Amino acid sequence: MDSNLGSKKRIAVIPGDGIGQEVIPQAVKVMEATGASVELSEFDWSADRYLADGVTVPQDGFAMLGRDFDAILIGAVGDPRVPNNIHGKEILLGMRFKMDLYANVRPVRLLDAALCPLKGIEPKDVDFVVIRENTEGVYGDVGGVFKQGTADEVAVQEDINTRKGVERIIRYAFEYCELHKKVDGSPRQRVLLCDKSNAMTHAGGLWQRVFKEVGNEYPQIKTQHMYVDALSMQMVRDPRGFDVIVTNNMFGDIITDLAAGLQGGLGMAASGNIHPGKTSMFEPVHGSAPPLAGKNQANPFGAILTAAMMLNHLGLAADAAKIEAAVLEAVRQKKSTPDIGGSLGTREAGEWVAQRVVRGSKP
Ligand code: NAD
Ligand code: IPM
Ligand code: MN
Repeated sequence: MDSNLGSKKRIAVIPGDGIGQEVIPQAVKVMEATGASVELSEFDWSADRYLADGVTVPQDGFAMLGRDFDAILIGAVGDPRVPNNIHGKEILLGMRFKMDLYANVRPVRLLDAALCPLKGIEPKDVDFVVIRENTEGVYGDVGGVFKQGTADEVAVQEDINTRKGVERIIRYAFEYCELHKKVDGSPRQRVLLCDKSNAMTHAGGLWQRVFKEVGNEYPQIKTQHMYVDALSMQMVRDPRGFDVIVTNNMFGDIITDLAAGLQGGLGMAASGNIHPGKTSMFEPVHGSAPPLAGKNQANPFGAILTAAMMLNHLGLAADAAKIEAAVLEAVRQKKSTPDIGGSLGTREAGEWVAQRVVRGSKP
C-alpha cells in the first residue's frame, strides 16, 4: 500500500470552456512532473455539459467539492453558444459565493523585463498583489429591471457592502502583508485601499472607516489610499510603488486585467479564490478566449503558475518552487507561446516546462 495515500492532497480539476480545456492539461502535466503528493479528479462542468444535459452545477456539487477536496483548479468558463453565460455565472460566481471564497488573491509579478510594455521597468519593479473582495459588491446581482422594453425602463444593480464582508477582506490584506515576503525576500510593508469614496460615499465611507480601524491593529504596516481612477493611471505610469492593494469586487476585476498587462498579458496572470481553512479555488485570471480556442496558441503559463500557487497554499512549497523556477526559465529562453515572444504552441510550451521540472536546473 502507498504509505503516502492518506496524506495526498485531493484536487478537483475543472478545465471548463475554450482555452481552459487547453491550458489546464498543461498545468496538470507540470504538476505531475513535480511528483507532488496530489490526487486529481476531473469534472466536466462546462458549456458542453450544459448544452448536452442542461446541468451547470450538479446537485450538491459545491457541498461535494467542499467535503471531498482540498482545492479546486479551474480553467475558464464562458462560451458564445450560451449567450447569457448562465453556466459561467452558476459555476464560477456560484462557487465564489456559495463556497464563500471571499479573498481573490491576484499576485502581479513581472518575470522578465522583455514582457513589460513599460520602458525601463524590471522584474524587481513589479511585485505587488491585489486582494479583491470576492463575494459582494455589484456581483451579488441584487436589483432588477422595471418597465423592461419601454421608454421608461429602469435597471437597478445594487452595490452590496456588508460590515462583515468589508472587514474580513481588509483584515485578510493586512494579514497577507504581514505573512508574505516579496520575491526578493524583503518584507511587504504597505496596504493600500483602492476605492471611489469621493463619488460612492455610502459604500466608500464604510470601507474607509473599517480600513482605518483594522489598520490601527497593525501599527507596523503603513496604510495608503488611492481612488481607483488615479490608481489606474499610476499603475501604467509607474508601478514601482505598489505592495498590497485591497479593493472591492468590481474594481479588483478591472485593475487586475490592467495589472496583467504589466506582466506580459492575461496569459501570465495567476489567482486564488480563498477562504482560509476551507476548500479554496485557483484559476488563471484570463477567460476562455473563444477566438484563440482550439488553435494550440493560448499561453499556458498563467494556468501553470496558478497550479504552483495552489500547491503553495496546500503546503507543497517545494513543488511550487520547482514550477515557478521552470516557468521563469521558459520565459527567459522564450520557450513560450507567441503572445510573450516565443514560437511554441500551448502543448509544446507546457511540455518544455514539465521537462524542465523533471531535469531541475541541470542543463
Ligand atoms: P479573455 O481573458 O478570454 O480574453 C481577453 C484577451 O486576452 C483576448 O485577446 C485573448 O486572446 C487574450 N488571452 C486571454 N488568455 C490568454 C492566454 N492564455 N494566452 C494568450 N492570450 C490570452 O476575456 P474575454 O474575451 O473578455 O472573455 C471571454 C469569455 O471568458 C467570456 O465568456 C467571459 O465571460 C469569460 N471569462 C471567464 C473567466 C473565468 O472563467 N475565470 C475570466 C474572464 C472571462
Ligand atoms: C474574472 C472574470 C469574472 C469576474 C467574470 C467571468 C464573471 O472576469 O475572474 O476576473 O468578473 O470576476
Ligand atoms: Mn476579470
